[in-house]
Amino acid sequence: MSLSQKSSDLKRRMREALRGGGEKAIEKQKATGKLTARERIIALLDPKSFHEYDLFVEHAGRDFDMSDKYLPGDGVVTGTGTINGYPVCVFAQDFTVAGGSLGYMHAKKITKIMDHAMKLKVPLIGINDSGGARIQEGVNSLAGYGEIFYRNTQASGVIPQISVILGPCAGGAVYSPALTDFVFVVDKISKMFITGPEVIKTVLGEEISMEELGGARVQAEITGNAHFYSENEIECFEQIKRLCSYIPWNNTKKAESFPKKPPRTRQYNIEKLFPTNSRQPYDVKDIICSISDDSEFFEVHELWAENIVVGFARMSGNTVGFVANQPLVLAGVLDVDSSDKAARFIRYCDAFNIPLVTLVDLPGYLPGVDQEHAGVIRHGAKVLYAYSEATVPKITVITRKAYGGGYIAMCSSHLRADFVFAWPTAEIAVMGPEGAANIIFRNEIKGAENPEEMRKLKVKEYKDKFANPYVAAAYGYIDAVIEPQETRDMVIHALHISADKTIVTPSKKHGIPPF
Ligand code: HXC
Repeated sequence: MSLSQKSSDLKRRMREALRGGGEKAIEKQKATGKLTARERIIALLDPKSFHEYDLFVEHAGRDFDMSDKYLPGDGVVTGTGTINGYPVCVFAQDFTVAGGSLGYMHAKKITKIMDHAMKLKVPLIGINDSGGARIQEGVNSLAGYGEIFYRNTQASGVIPQISVILGPCAGGAVYSPALTDFVFVVDKISKMFITGPEVIKTVLGEEISMEELGGARVQAEITGNAHFYSENEIECFEQIKRLCSYIPWNNTKKAESFPKKPPRTRQYNIEKLFPTNSRQPYDVKDIICSISDDSEFFEVHELWAENIVVGFARMSGNTVGFVANQPLVLAGVLDVDSSDKAARFIRYCDAFNIPLVTLVDLPGYLPGVDQEHAGVIRHGAKVLYAYSEATVPKITVITRKAYGGGYIAMCSSHLRADFVFAWPTAEIAVMGPEGAANIIFRNEIKGAENPEEMRKLKVKEYKDKFANPYVAAAYGYIDAVIEPQETRDMVIHALHISADKTIVTPSKKHGIPPF
């Protein structure tokens, strides 16, 4: 064969491999509002940056007439590319080919690109659209998942791992994402479950739709399995690009620096946004925007456990991770879910050299039988563990309430915050004035001629003595009492001088966090 004949043979083979599951399957995919695997990669990466590998891989199934079947690329597209110049390894499962199910060679392609990502120390993005383990390939499919889970775990905290759920994902197709750092879902398209509606009907006799069982909103609002929710695939890819701008390529690097931009103070005026009445709730996201560069805040887990707010912003051009109690929701208490959410985010930031800025305003951990029985002790302890373990710069600002365990947990100096600032409005005490007065002045209140008058008097007495930042300041537990409008400058300075912070931690294989 001449070179030109060989070239046309290559082109023919490529055309064949690139046709995926064929016209009919592609039409079905499009009818559900989904892009194809390659279209997704192209939409996500910089123009012309995608380089595909292993296009000619074929499946290794031999049973159930599989040897007669041609599954182009074995149902997964893999390669490398860039996002705003930021290098990434990527795979996208092709649902048009055997439902994107994971057979032996399909898994080999994924583990090969994962190994590249680890070797090259660049992020891995997985677009999941798969019915899970390929049933016809039996234990080889399970082995494939095992290999992927192992690599997910090895890569955890070394390179960013981002999962996108863009189809009905079952079984192993959701466990791998659960081991990664960030999971993105899209309305009406993403479905995640270990066992689908059919199995549930057979085993339990319960009927439920895929959407109700594990749709995008369920995963973003109820389970917390998903960190980001979008209305459509293109919006989802824009969110991923935005996330990539805040995080470093790997754990040996810092996130990219951007030009410093002042906050948009006309819209986000810290003094106007913070209520004068100490009982009035406010949106802590406004406070974050009033001190961050260009008033931009990229929230993680926006729809789940809204009593705590976590996400990325920039201060003086550099990425920081914000953790803030949200007084608008449940007065910003820590509970089972908000503790999980905060602890995970803190550990992410610590693993990837992102300094933490904590804004504190909470009455404490949420009391109640439900919470106690749901394990608030174990979950709440995760926050203590995560903050204590974190060695990145940690700056804390107490804006209002910092009561009891909440005071300690929200990155107090005792958990080794590097700098703790308090506004004059801060109330640092074992508990709120009402509760405290009822306990320590019980006898005086009971024995008084007018118990209600006495109660009010004692609440005031307690408030005057403890509901302020000065007792903590007198012991050196906070470093400075500052005006709200000084916050941005104080935090930026604290971050600047902590940039080369080093901490020597005790030698150990690893700790045992309260998982
Ligand atoms: C082989 C599969 C498949 C699978 C789908 N297909 N899932 N083939 N193995 N796991 C094939 C279908 O046979 C069909 O092929 C094509 O993909 C499209 O599937 P449909 O069912 O037509 O699509 P849809 O109606 O959209 O339903 C999607 C689905 C459903 C919800 C994902 O296919 C489904 O329930 N699949 C099985 C899910 C499952 O139980 N997986 C195993 C999980 S166990 P044709 O040729 O007709 O187009 C697992 C073990 C690992 O993953 C656990 C690790 C902890």
